[in-house]
Amino acid sequence: MSEYNRITDVNAREIIDCRGTPTVQVDVWVDDELRGRADVPSGRSTGSYEAYEMRDGGTRYGGYGVTKAIHNVNTAIADLLLDRDVTEQRALDLDMVALDGTPNKSRLGANAILGASLAVARAAAATLELPLYRYLNSEAHVLPVPMMNLVNGGKLSSNDLCFQEFIMMPVGAETFSEALQITAEINAILRPMTAARYGKLAVNVGDEGGVVPPIVDVREALNLLRDAVRQSGYESKIVYAFDCAATHLYDRRSETYQFEGKQLSRDGVIQFFKNLVSEYPIVSIEDPLQEDDYEGFAEITRALPGVQIVGDDLFVTNKARLARGVEMGAANSVLWKVNQIGTLTEAMETATMAFRNGYGVCVSERSGETEDPMIADLVVALNGGQIKTGAPVRSERTAKYNRLLQIEEELGPAATYAGRSFRRPV
Ligand code: PGA
Ligand code: ZN
Repeated sequence: MSEYNRITDVNAREIIDCRGTPTVQVDVWVDDELRGRADVPSGRSTGSYEAYEMRDGGTRYGGYGVTKAIHNVNTAIADLLLDRDVTEQRALDLDMVALDGTPNKSRLGANAILGASLAVARAAAATLELPLYRYLNSEAHVLPVPMMNLVNGGKLSSNDLCFQEFIMMPVGAETFSEALQITAEINAILRPMTAARYGKLAVNVGDEGGVVPPIVDVREALNLLRDAVRQSGYESKIVYAFDCAATHLYDRRSETYQFEGKQLSRDGVIQFFKNLVSEYPIVSIEDPLQEDDYEGFAEITRALPGVQIVGDDLFVTNKARLARGVEMGAANSVLWKVNQIGTLTEAMETATMAFRNGYGVCVSERSGETEDPMIADLVVALNGGQIKTGAPVRSERTAKYNRLLQIEEELGPAATYAGRSFRRPV
């Protein structure tokens, strides 16, 4: 036994994610025992300002191999971490950032650095014999509202629905487990309803497990979801949200957005949402405008009081980009994806900045996930109050929900469900 919790080995391997695309898995050994393992997620509908995901190029796996990132973990990153105290998360993360030395982690790869960062956190928690959420925060107690993406469109589907995610939030449930039960029941109604209206191909699922009906009109998709909710009898407990991923609907040349096959200006988009919010109980809209339009985000935030406006491609979990948003009043919530920034420490700093400035924090999966449920522990560690991790189907999604059930049970009476206060749970 050493007198401190010494990292004795770091080992990365190439695995595949839920799309069959390679990604990085890292093992961290402490005092000669394997203590922490973590997988790195990957987006498809990515923002331009995300940290750099290193891919091999060439022909192997269509160019998506990650052997260079693996090599970087097993050499430069391992050299840095060996013999260090595994519980010094911040120092280790900042040293990896410094070793990389680029603004977007393009030398070592954000996927290499993040894999090490997350595996270190897991290894430290295991070494201290604590669940990860409690290791990161002894006050962790909030179970999040699941933002259930039950109808998929955009880049994560095979249909022509403009918005990427049609989400229902069971804010009226009493507990997380009740919230999960309600959404699974609604999804079970939604699937045959979708097949009856749109044919059997419509119930194939998109990348995040939602149905993919051949719909173009946003209201038609919302009505489908609402009809399933009504039939379930849970209508009073449910509110709605979108991820528009509008960066991917924007044409830079004409400065217009393709919504429902029509071209809209920024003002047109804002009016579109004003109308929609007056017709449906919509409480949260992610990326209604493109990633460079801070002014537009400020305007829509003012135009829709009481609605959560979430910046995903806008902020990319980056403190500097969030600081600009705070200054301008652009959005009032940050989507929180650890691989957009590349270390746990930096992602935590972004969350702290968000909370301090009255912004919400919505912890999110990527469309490319593995069975690693890490973000379930992270959302509880942050007392974040909301998690976006797809429909309650497919193991890479249910892994997170099932881990939250375990955490709820572990916390027992100390747990609170964020419910209607999902934006400010503590
Ligand atoms: P991504 O999609 O993981 O492909 O980026 C999810 C999102 O945009 O929120
Ligand atoms: Zn998004």
